[in-house]
Amino acid sequence: MAIERTFSIIKPDATRKNLVGKILARFESEGLRICGMRKVHMSLREAEGFYAVHAGRPFFAELTAFMSSGPCVVLVLEGENAILRNREIMGATNPAQAAEGTLRKLYADSIGENAVHGSDAPDTAATEIAWFFRGTELH
Ligand code: CMP
Repeated sequence: MAIERTFSIIKPDATRKNLVGKILARFESEGLRICGMRKVHMSLREAEGFYAVHAGRPFFAELTAFMSSGPCVVLVLEGENAILRNREIMGATNPAQAAEGTLRKLYADSIGENAVHGSDAPDTAATEIAWFFRGTELH
């Protein structure tokens, strides 16, 4: 049994649509525990820093403008195989390809405004958690 931590963002489209409670309830009902949580409104610079791995991709400017367009909720989720589990709960990046019942199928409007972000692997989870949280903020 691998208890992992992963990083998640409830994106500005979802906070704008008052979906924070529904998304948090879904994580908890799927057995993921919220061990860190904060509401943040990133500046453009901060969004560019967080998504630096995508710098140079054609959607980078659109992505960072969107992620700094309103508040997000940043989360650390803990549970068995949390990284993969969270990705299953979110569904495919493009909501048009996301499976029925997934958060992106239910709530996302487009590949850019896709409601949630989740780490894709253990190394990115560790980097992304450390970007937003100190160890003493995780319980
Ligand atoms: P996320 O999981 O936050 O990681 C990077 C984000 O880039 C991704 O979700 C999408 O929202 C966004 N993204 C990926 N591909 C595209 C694209 N072709 N056009 C716009 N945004 C994209």
